[in-house]
Amino acid sequence: MTVDFLLTGAGQLVTCDPGLGHGPLGLVERGAVAAARGTVVYAGPEGGLPDLEVAADATRLDAGGRAVLPGFVDAHTHLVFAGDRADEFAARLRGVGYEEALAAGGGINRTVRETRAATDAELEAAAAGRLVEAARHGTTTLEAKSGYGLTVDDERRSLEVLASLAGRFPVDVVPTFLGAHLIPAEHAADRDGYLEMLEREMLPVCAPLARFVDAFCDRGALTVEESRRVLAAGRRHGLGLKLHANELGSTGGAALAAELGCVSADHLLFCDEREAKALAAAGTVAVLLPGTSFLLGTGRAAPVEVLRDAGVILALGTDCNPGTCYCESMQLVIALACVHGGLTPEEAVLAATGGAARAVGLAGQAGLLAPGAACDLVVLAGRSYLDLVYHLGVNLAAVVVKRGSVIAGDGAPTGALREAR
Ligand code: NIG
Ligand code: FE
Repeated sequence: MTVDFLLTGAGQLVTCDPGLGHGPLGLVERGAVAAARGTVVYAGPEGGLPDLEVAADATRLDAGGRAVLPGFVDAHTHLVFAGDRADEFAARLRGVGYEEALAAGGGINRTVRETRAATDAELEAAAAGRLVEAARHGTTTLEAKSGYGLTVDDERRSLEVLASLAGRFPVDVVPTFLGAHLIPAEHAADRDGYLEMLEREMLPVCAPLARFVDAFCDRGALTVEESRRVLAAGRRHGLGLKLHANELGSTGGAALAAELGCVSADHLLFCDEREAKALAAAGTVAVLLPGTSFLLGTGRAAPVEVLRDAGVILALGTDCNPGTCYCESMQLVIALACVHGGLTPEEAVLAATGGAARAVGLAGQAGLLAPGAACDLVVLAGRSYLDLVYHLGVNLAAVVVKRGSVIAGDGAPTGALREAR
C-alpha cells in the first residue's frame, strides 16, 4: 500500500484507542502514524510499521521525541456572532450575575441585536477568525451552533456561514440549529407564537443546513415543555438531538435529554445521581464546559464524581461564545477541566478527543489515532500529554495536521488554513 503521510519519532503517541498501547489513553512509546488520502492506515510502535510504499511527495514529519495526540474535537461552540460583551464580563467580575445581565435585556438578547445588524461578510469574517484560532490551537473538528439570529433569515444565514466555513477551511464543522437559544425579546408576550413559527417556518429552512437541533433549557430561557417541543420537531426533520441542560439551575433538562435519547446533554452544572444514571442508561454524552463554569464565577463545576460513578461518557467543549466564555482553545479547556472541573488528565484528554467525537456523532471517525480514523493530529511542544495541564498559557500545538496535511506550525496557520484566510 502507498501512503502519503508518515509521522515517526513520537516519544509518546496518545492514540485514545484503548485497544492499542497501554492505559485508558492507549499510549505507545516511540510511535508512528501512516495515512493514505487523509485516513490513518497505521498507528502504533515505529518498530511495527508494516511494509509501506511512501509516495515521493508524501508529508513526512519527525516528531523528535515529542508527544502526539489526535486533533482536538470541540463538542460545543457558538462561533457565529457579532459584537462582544466585554463590559458585561467586567461587570460579572464586580459581582453582577450572568442572569442579571440577561434579565436586564443584555446577555444573549444583546448579541442577537448585534448579530442581526451585521452584514453576511462581517458575520462570516468574525466566525472565520475564531475557527482559525481554534485550529492553530489544535482543534481539527468542531461543533458550532446558530442561535443569535432567532428569525428565519438570521438563523438560516448563521447556518450558511457555517456551511461556507466548512467549505473554505480544513476543519470539520458540525452544524447545530439553535433557534431555541431564547425566546427573542419581540416574542416575549407570545412564547407559543415563536415556537409555532420555529416549527412551521424556521425548521423547514434550517434543518437541511444542520445535523443537530439544540435548545437552551434553563432558568430565564426555555422550559422543559418548550424544549421538548423544539427537539421533537427537530427530530421530525431528521436532526440529531442535543440539549443545553442544567447550566443555571436544576431545571429538569438532564432528565429530558435522557428521556429523548439526546446524543448529548451539555453543561450539567446541576446533576444528581438519578439524572446521571438516566443519562448513562440513555447513552447520552455529558458535554462539560469548564471554561464556562469557571467564568460564571459561582464556584460551581459539573459534579464529575456523580457522572463518573454513573458511568456517563464525558466530552469537553469550549462553549466559545460572547457571554459566558470567549475562548477557542481546547488546550485551556483541558487544563481547566482538571484544575477546576475535577477530571483527571487522562479523562480530560479522552473527553477532548474520543468523547467529544461521540458527542458530535463522529465516534470512531475522529478523536482517535487508529486505522480507519481521520489522520487529524497534534504534535505537542512537550514530551507528554500532561504538559496540557501543567504548562499553562502558551500554545502547545507545535504542528497541527488535518486529514494528513499540515495546517498549522508553531502557532501559525500554514497550507490550506492560511490560504483560506
Ligand atoms: O452555552 N447557555 C446558553 N448559551 C451560552 C451562552 C450564550 C451567551 O451568553 O451569549 C452558553 O453558556
Ligand atoms: Fe452553549
